[in-house]
Amino acid sequence: MKTIKSQNSEQTLHLGEYMGKKILEEIFQGVSIALNGELGAGKTTFVQGFAKGLGVSEKYYITSPTYNIINEYPAGVFTLCHLDLYRLESVDELETIGFDDLIDDTHIIVVEWPEILKRISFKFDIEINFKFDEHYNRIISITSGQPGSNLISKLFL
Ligand SMILES: Nc1ncnc2c1ncn2[C@@H]1O[C@H](COP(=O)(O)OP(=O)(O)O)[C@@H](O)[C@H]1O
Ligand SMILES: [Mg+2]
Repeated sequence: MKTIKSQNSEQTLHLGEYMGKKILEEIFQGVSIALNGELGAGKTTFVQGFAKGLGVSEKYYITSPTYNIINEYPAGVFTLCHLDLYRLESVDELETIGFDDLIDDTHIIVVEWPEILKRISFKFDIEINFKFDEHYNRIISITSGQPGSNLISKLFL
């Protein structure tokens, strides 16, 4: 597990950017990341930095896809898919949004409010938890979602 204290949004942006770059350099395959944490904890801020690290054009302004559920951005040979499943009411709706088709080697997916996917036993490659500390900093912990995976050690060499 990797734990980082982020004292401002720039630090969270930088963490996202670092991880985006590392995925391009070290992993070169589809990756799924769960973003867990309350409203305002910094999930979308992380995705903004992550997109930059993956080389998504700065012409896109990234916000939570609360109403459209999924936003896609070209990122070189990959497509970055940013999901917000807060409004999803049933697992059947996952089919409507074509979730299964996103799981391949061309998509990098980041999911806010991912709980509903745990109901179908979907296993993310990486789990990130955002928590507030008593000074309103964010404590960001990053773990592998797959037992025995060396993904986290590759990302934080
Ligand atoms: N350390 C920090 N990391 C991330 N965001 C922070 C931090 N400190 C303050 N903020 C602010 O908190 C808010 C986080 O919002 P957002 O990233 O949309 O959260 P979420 O997607 O988890 O609801 C932003 O307004 C951001 O500027
Ligand atoms: Mg958000």
